[in-house]
Order: sequence, then C-alpha cells, then structure tokens
Amino acid sequence: MYTVHTIPQARAFLDSARARGQQVGLVPTMGFLHAGHQSLMRRAVSECDVVVATIFVNPLQFAPNEDLAAYPRDFVADSELAAEAGVSILLAPSVDEMYPETVVTSVRVSGLSDGLESGARPTHFEGVATVVAKLFNVVGPCRAYFGEKDYQQLAVIRRMVSDLSFNIQVIGCPIVREVDGLAMSSRNAYLEAADREAATCLRRALDAGVALLEAGERSVVAIEAAMSAVVEAEDRATLDYVAVRDADTLQTIAQVEEDAHLLVAAKVGPSRLIDNCAFSGK
Ligand code: PAJ
Repeated sequence: MYTVHTIPQARAFLDSARARGQQVGLVPTMGFLHAGHQSLMRRAVSECDVVVATIFVNPLQFAPNEDLAAYPRDFVADSELAAEAGVSILLAPSVDEMYPETVVTSVRVSGLSDGLESGARPTHFEGVATVVAKLFNVVGPCRAYFGEKDYQQLAVIRRMVSDLSFNIQVIGCPIVREVDGLAMSSRNAYLEAADREAATCLRRALDAGVALLEAGERSVVAIEAAMSAVVEAEDRATLDYVAVRDADTLQTIAQVEEDAHLLVAAKVGPSRLIDNCAFSGK
C-alpha cells in the first residue's frame, strides 16, 4: 500500500493508473478504522482495479461544540487495517493540505439535509457534502463507497452526485455490527463498559419498531412511541430522535404503506450514536 499526504502525490499515482485504463474506487473515511470501514474497502477492492482510502477528520462537518479535537485517531493501526483490506493507496492529507485558505465555497443539499441528524447538527451535511465533492475531484473515482450506517449522509451524497452530474457510481454498503447488534462506530471507542452495554438500546429500539410493523401496526406515531420507550428505559442514554420515514426520500409519513426506514439517534455516555434499518412490507 502506497501512503501519501498530499493531493499532488495522490493525483500523480491515480493519473497514471487511469492512463493504464484502470478503474479507481474511493472509500472516504475519518480514520480510527474498524471492520465497518474495512467492509467498504473490501467491496471496493472486489470491484475496482485501484482503491483509494482517505483518512481526513474534516473540520467543516464538526460544529464548534462537537468532538473534533477529541475525535479518536490512530494512524499506525489505520494503515495496517487499510493494507489488510487490500487498499492500493492511502491518502491522509493535513487540514492545511485540504483547506489552504478559508473555505468560501460549499455544497448544500437542501431538503435531505434538513431534519434527523441536522436537528442536532445543523451545518453537518454541508461540511460532509463539501469535503466529499472535493475528494471526488481530487481522486476522480468511477465508484465511491459509503456505509448505510450513515443513512442520511448516503442519501445526501447520492442526491449531490445526481444534481451536480458527478460521473461516479455511489455504492451503499450494509451496516457491520458487533455480535450484540451495536453498529460499529469509531465513537464506540469513547464508551466505558456500562455505556457499551446501554448502547445496544439503539438496535433494540429498531427491533421494537420492526416487530410492531411485522405485527401489522402501520401508525408512525405508535411505532415511534414504542421505539422511544426502549431508549428512554435506558438510564445512560438520552434520546435525540426516533423516526419512521419514507424509505427513498426520508420525508415524514403518517402511515407506513409498504416500505419504510427506521432511524434512531441517542447520546450514550459521552458518545452520540446513530443507527437505522429498513422495513419492507412487500
Ligand atoms: P466515517 O464515520 O469514518 O465513516 C466512513 C464510512 O464508513 C462512511 O461511509 C460510513 O457510513 C461507513 N461506516 C462507518 N461505520 C460503519 C458500519 N458499522 N458499517 C458499515 N459502514 C460503516 O462518514 C464519514 O466518516 C465522513 O462523514 C466522511 C464521509 C468520510 C466525510 O468526511
């Protein structure tokens, strides 16, 4: 695996790969890699000739009160995990390399960026869309891989790619979970033992929602109430939101017709965690 820290080094490598007719895949990350990130990398390796993974903790997507400075980092372990997953080139730029000047250009995907995660993090998706657009321009991939773990983020990126005509196929990859159902996340590293156990309440809330749907309940108010109750029963968790939304647009609905998407966000100990799952009534 070739490791670079500058945009020109990455471009030189990728230009010559493309000149040889190779297809480039991109896996953007903020590092502190785990099996969830590796699943994206492995999928990319199976579908592309050259796979670029990026590690960049993007200041634009963190609000001043969030965990930018404390965000966990371990470049040595990350390099090993990326190499193990078969990544060809690891790009880990500094903040100065990515943003040498104050950023005055940004990408905002309206509608999809509103509500859910944006309730607690109003400027978050503008920061995500802007850095992802920039990484697309730096790397020039034909495919880019994102996890369904960040479901709203995936929807925002798909819409940005469509609206701005990026010639890139966006590939959504399934959530990788711990054995007890907790979705893997770099932020799980902040959890002490009791919080770690409490954190399963997100998955349990989704399960409660799906169980009601499977039993025939179609009222979103009733399903969301049952989901909230699971998180609220957990002392160490503070509910941010539960939502049952239209599976494609993420718009609010009153009744579930066929398909729906269930989402949950809660603070557990020091970590803000998110999870989601699909329901298909077909
Ligand atoms: P990060 O949180 O590091 O996640 C990088 C990618 O890994 C995202 O596409 C995310 O959805 C995926 N991922 C994380 N946990 C996962 C899991 N348990 N199963 C499957 N996929 C998982 O998301 C970001 O970084 C940033 O916002 C980024 C897109 C890199 C822009 O800065």
